[in-house]
Amino acid sequence: MQFSQRLQEYIQTIERALDEYLTVQGCTGQQSIVEAMRYSALAGGKRLRPVLTMEFCRVSGGQPQDALPFACALEMIHTYSLIHDDLPCMDDDDLRRGRPTSHKVYGEGMAVLAGDALLTYAFETAAGAAQNPRLTAQQMVQAVGVLAHEAGYFSMIGGQVLDLAAEHKQLSYEELVDLQDKKTGGLIRAATQMGCIVGGATAQQMQAAKIYADRLGLAFQIQDDILDIEGDQSVFGKPIGSDEKSGKSTFPKLLGLSACRKMVRELTDEATEAVKVFPSSDFLIELAEQLVDRRS
Ligand code: IPE
Ligand code: IPE
Ligand code: MG
Ligand code: MG
Ligand code: MG
Repeated sequence: MQFSQRLQEYIQTIERALDEYLTVQGCTGQQSIVEAMRYSALAGGKRLRPVLTMEFCRVSGGQPQDALPFACALEMIHTYSLIHDDLPCMDDDDLRRGRPTSHKVYGEGMAVLAGDALLTYAFETAAGAAQNPRLTAQQMVQAVGVLAHEAGYFSMIGGQVLDLAAEHKQLSYEELVDLQDKKTGGLIRAATQMGCIVGGATAQQMQAAKIYADRLGLAFQIQDDILDIEGDQSVFGKPIGSDEKSGKSTFPKLLGLSACRKMVRELTDEATEAVKVFPSSDFLIELAEQLVDRRS
């Protein structure tokens, strides 16, 4: 199957499932929170992490559909992280996925709660995969454990803490790698590892997936920081100059734009090399390549 066709199929499947998960009936009292959750979760976005979960399941020998609850759970956690990341007490941004941010539409209290609700509902969604007779209890526990670990203070939250603490400072190269590896690498690692677990990957494949995620995650955040400087807001869907405004410690600030472009290229090469241990790696290679030139 062609790369773009497979990508479109994954995105459609994920968006349909997210829509269904977030169609909650019979709770009229809390309908306003469901509306706020849907506003952010169904606002487009590249769906990179859930696509990775489904494809890593496929290349590990599994049925991508079996990974769908974990893929959706991860996208819920990613969406929650963005709602909170945009709050005035964090990056204070007004635009996300081409729309006003959650707190601009629903107020800060509801934006905090919409994030909280997406985080907790993510684990309910992942736990729902236990109904699938093809998944063992061990796979269930491992996948949920990975999700919790990479979303939590060891990883994504830990990275966000370092990111806030680094405002108006310039970290060293090593400190920045550690920050970005947690902040952005965490959920991308969760994506690949959950796909591998559900698909039944070998230990060698799991290790290769981890290298792919680490390199891709770092390249992805460096490209995000480049676009924060030279992107086009109408394509990027987020404000340009947000990092400068908040005094963020970033790779472009430390190394300059051209060194950053070179890093994105080299990290992508390392990612695509690692993933060649899978019998069918074309999609994952093409996906990484497309991210090098992304503008959104
Ligand atoms: C934004 O992630 C946050 C970063 C880690 C840079 P994405 O660029 O994947 O955001 P969406 O999901 O496409 O909106
Ligand atoms: C945020 O990084 C990453 C997480 C939400 C974990 P950024 O602050 O750079 O993301 P954007 O640019 O707001 O999407
Ligand atoms: Mg941030
Ligand atoms: Mg931000
Ligand atoms: Mg950014």
